[in-house]
Amino acid sequence: MQSLKWRACMQMEPLTNDQLPIIPDVHEQCICRKGTLGLIQKLTKPFIYLSVMTCDFNLFLANLILLAHPPNKVIAAGETRSACHVLNAVANHGILPHDGKNITFWASNTTVRQTFNFAPSLCFFVLKFSADFLGRSYWVDKFDLEELSKYNAIEHDASLTRRNAALIPDQGRPDLALVQELLSVATGKGKGGKVLLTKENLSKQLAKRRGEARAETPEYSESLFHNMFGSADSSMSLTIFGSRVDDLRPMLTEERFSGN
Ligand code: HEM
Repeated sequence: MQSLKWRACMQMEPLTNDQLPIIPDVHEQCICRKGTLGLIQKLTKPFIYLSVMTCDFNLFLANLILLAHPPNKVIAAGETRSACHVLNAVANHGILPHDGKNITFWASNTTVRQTFNFAPSLCFFVLKFSADFLGRSYWVDKFDLEELSKYNAIEHDASLTRRNAALIPDQGRPDLALVQELLSVATGKGKGGKVLLTKENLSKQLAKRRGEARAETPEYSESLFHNMFGSADSSMSLTIFGSRVDDLRPMLTEERFSGN
């Protein structure tokens, strides 16, 4: 009886004949509730639509007057970013909180996974690993993007788009010279003559970066785990962004999605 009542109320649909004699009061309640909701909707609809349109028009006017953020300066003072351009892009677009703060580990798993069609297992692994190295619970705790850049946790020397943390402690921004260099080594050719970054290009560039980074800072460190992580990250970029330099450029330089 309880579940029938619940069903009737949730669905707000007339019950079948055999249910009616059992719970006539529920049927009446539903009809009554439907009527009340209909009336409230009728009364509030014009007000809500008008408010939204007014608000929207005001935004349109404000956008005509206000200066747009330059593409590579969308991060306001006090906002934080990580050593991962992919997560930064998600925050830059406001899919994760724009200030990059107080992000729930488990909720960001869904967000990142849905944004990039990234494997749930890998997404869980990386975020659980992050929660563990920060000494937090994956299930209930939160993080700020910059906290992911803890040296030699996931963040490591010889990255493709960042100089070693010993040289540049703020790992939240790309080194544009490194990004240009990376994109310039692309030799692949795709449909319509699109320039592609190939696995070979990436491997050579990673090897070059490891040599350079070793020479750049005496504190340089390298481990099998970080090398594997760096290589896996790079190949994920190829798969997810289709290797296309045109699409990788905005992602790596401005940490935003390409308009294509
Ligand atoms: C799921 C949560 C993720 C976390 C916690 C995370 C974290 C990180 C961190 C801390 C780094 C810095 C490593 C370094 O020092 O180079 C990094 C780099 C990187 N991440 Fe992520 N990441 C995530 C998802 C992704 C996804 C979905 C992609 C997809 C393409 C990706 C691609 C990369 C790449 C290519 C790098 C290397 C950048 C470089 O070498 O400069 N990440 N990530």
